[in-house]
Amino acid sequence: MSEILSIQNLNKTYEGGFQALKNVNLFINRGEIFALLGPNGAGKTTLIGAVCGMVRPTSGQILVDGHDIVQDFRRTRELIGLVPQELSTDSFETVWDTVNFSRGLFGQPPNTDYVEATLKNLSLWDKRKNTIRTLSGGMKRRVMIAKALSHEPKVLFLDEPTAGVDVELRKDMWDQVHALQKTGVTIILTTHYIEEAEEMADRIGIISKGELILTECKSALMRKLGRKELVLDLAEPLGTLPDRLTKYKLDLNAERTAIKYEFDSTSDDNGISELVGELVRSGCSFKDIHTKQSSLEEIFIRLVKK
Ligand SMILES: Nc1ncnc2c1ncn2[C@@H]1O[C@H](COP(=O)(O)OP(=O)(O)O)[C@@H](O)[C@H]1O
Ligand SMILES: [Mg+2]
Repeated sequence: MSEILSIQNLNKTYEGGFQALKNVNLFINRGEIFALLGPNGAGKTTLIGAVCGMVRPTSGQILVDGHDIVQDFRRTRELIGLVPQELSTDSFETVWDTVNFSRGLFGQPPNTDYVEATLKNLSLWDKRKNTIRTLSGGMKRRVMIAKALSHEPKVLFLDEPTAGVDVELRKDMWDQVHALQKTGVTIILTTHYIEEAEEMADRIGIISKGELILTECKSALMRKLGRKELVLDLAEPLGTLPDRLTKYKLDLNAERTAIKYEFDSTSDDNGISELVGELVRSGCSFKDIHTKQSSLEEIFIRLVKK
């Protein structure tokens, strides 16, 4: 079986009647990094909660490595590591004790070699004797990851791992997660930072108002939905666009100094040379011409608006 996680027809309606998840179907491949991208309130934490046993699904089925999370709760929970969105990090315990204790909580026999390797992988080894409350924010996050990995899970959930974390630390976290993937762990992270999904994920799922509106390989997503834009910076501000150009659906900026033309980069007949010819014949001259590929951010905004 290639899937490590299978979610079928998952619905969650909270008490009070709010439907936070609407018929979600999602399959996660072994060893991938999957980013669940969506605005605040979209249902990301609810979805993770359902898989990890903190949120009871209203209907649907969830299998972790082939085991049903309801019938086989203990087994599936052992296969999962979770770094929750809200971290509790005010502990007087040392890093070493906390991580070893976590392992015991999941009924795993002590394995100091494994814990040592985990702390080393996360660059926490030097801090093993420090109490958690004395660590910096970034180090605390790493301790939470080490805790989540303590019982050797196959799947690691990171719920908004870098929310409120500065840019430097965020990059650091991305490196750590890539390194984790190399150890064979499947990683599912949620984020509302588009840049994060773009940077980290092999595949991206976009969730909005409880609906998973799309799952796609990152590169395919960029290729399929990405549009290209041609920007022509004019030598002189333009009064109005010449009539013969109306069919191109051009965009003139407020200062009337640049024309934008959106085109389909996958089509041979993108209209660019014809358009430029028309502009020259209309007496326009340009200072600069450049193209721009739409970012995941623009794709995301378009999708979520729809
Ligand atoms: N325990 C709860 N009871 C009622 N509504 C909830 C509860 N938890 C979350 N919600 C609502 O469900 C929606 C999705 O929340 P959540 O899964 O936390 O979103 P996200 O993690 O994407 O920000 C939100 O509108 C939130 O207010
Ligand atoms: Mg959340």
